[in-house]
Amino acid sequence: MNIQAKKKVFSGVQPTGSLHLGNYIGALSVWVKEQDNFDGIYCVVDLHALTIPEAIEPKVFHEKNWETVAMYLACGIDPNKSTIFIQSQVREHTELAWILTCMTPMGWLERMTQFKSKSGKQETVGTGLFTYPVLQAADILLYDTEVVPVGEDQKQHIEITRDIAQRFNQMFGEVFVLPEAMIPKAGARIMGLDDPESKMSKSSAVKNAKHAIGVVDEPKKIIKAIKAAKTDSASEVSFEGEMSPGVKNLLTIHHVMTGWDEAQQRAHFEGKGYGFFKSEIADAVVERLSPIREEYTRLLDDRAHLQAIARMGAEKAGAQAEAKVKAVKDALKINF
Ligand code: TYM
Repeated sequence: MNIQAKKKVFSGVQPTGSLHLGNYIGALSVWVKEQDNFDGIYCVVDLHALTIPEAIEPKVFHEKNWETVAMYLACGIDPNKSTIFIQSQVREHTELAWILTCMTPMGWLERMTQFKSKSGKQETVGTGLFTYPVLQAADILLYDTEVVPVGEDQKQHIEITRDIAQRFNQMFGEVFVLPEAMIPKAGARIMGLDDPESKMSKSSAVKNAKHAIGVVDEPKKIIKAIKAAKTDSASEVSFEGEMSPGVKNLLTIHHVMTGWDEAQQRAHFEGKGYGFFKSEIADAVVERLSPIREEYTRLLDDRAHLQAIARMGAEKAGAQAEAKVKAVKDALKINF
């Protein structure tokens, strides 16, 4: 029997806002689906969320961290198979981030599209927003990560992580493993329901209730948002020719929720009115998300359980992170 070693996997979500269907489809659902093939570490990246300090209200922020831990569990991450922890609980993340910051040319960070789009929206831009990808590189490199399952928007951050690792290895010896992004074939970029030309995002969800579907939204809200989703001026679904981005986005969501392939979707939806089409999509989303919402609500009331899981995760991750920082310091001869 050919027993292959499990892939070392790391990924994370910022505890800002509520997680939406894009986060679920692009990231969490993949973590869960591949759980048995992955040696997975899933982090709540609170230090990354600090890069927009204007959005931080400490008490609310504190709760968001626990909500995100609850969300990981409710979506199906099994703490007996995977490690779950809160980033700030493992101090090596910031320690390695500083060392890597010193090795990262500014020009590399200036090319980051996420920095360009996020900084454009801020009155003052914190330095941390600029060096954000270096902290992300530290997250990944601390754990000898081989695979990073993320949505398409994070591709550039994984590429720069590889570049940083390679540069360090060339300068000081082979310390880091070069990771690869794992981007789902379907649903790598779920679009806004109100504006299918732009990515579904937490920040747009705050401004428009019909932009996104929250993973733990009530069925009524989900149905309303999908009914209002922008499609096109046609009145029925057609698989002939170029599909409008709105219809395409809804079909992608339906595909991920149900597992139906294009032939099954075609047989079911071709020639049907948008009213029927949207109500079927809404049913599929509600059916998939309802058990998650119920489990999430139950878990939120069990803070001690969430704390125990995060503590256990931080201890496990911390031991690995400590060993890696030691190797980095050994390579630099700054281990006194
Ligand atoms: P964040 O919190 O913005 O998003 C979390 C995950 O959700 C994916 N995602 C989407 N996927 C498909 N369609 C969308 N509309 C959509 N919106 C978001 C993201 O690609 C991501 O996988 N920088 C990261 C957090 C991070 C991280 C890491 C990730 C910090 N350190 C190390 C991986 C490894 C971020 O801001 O994710």
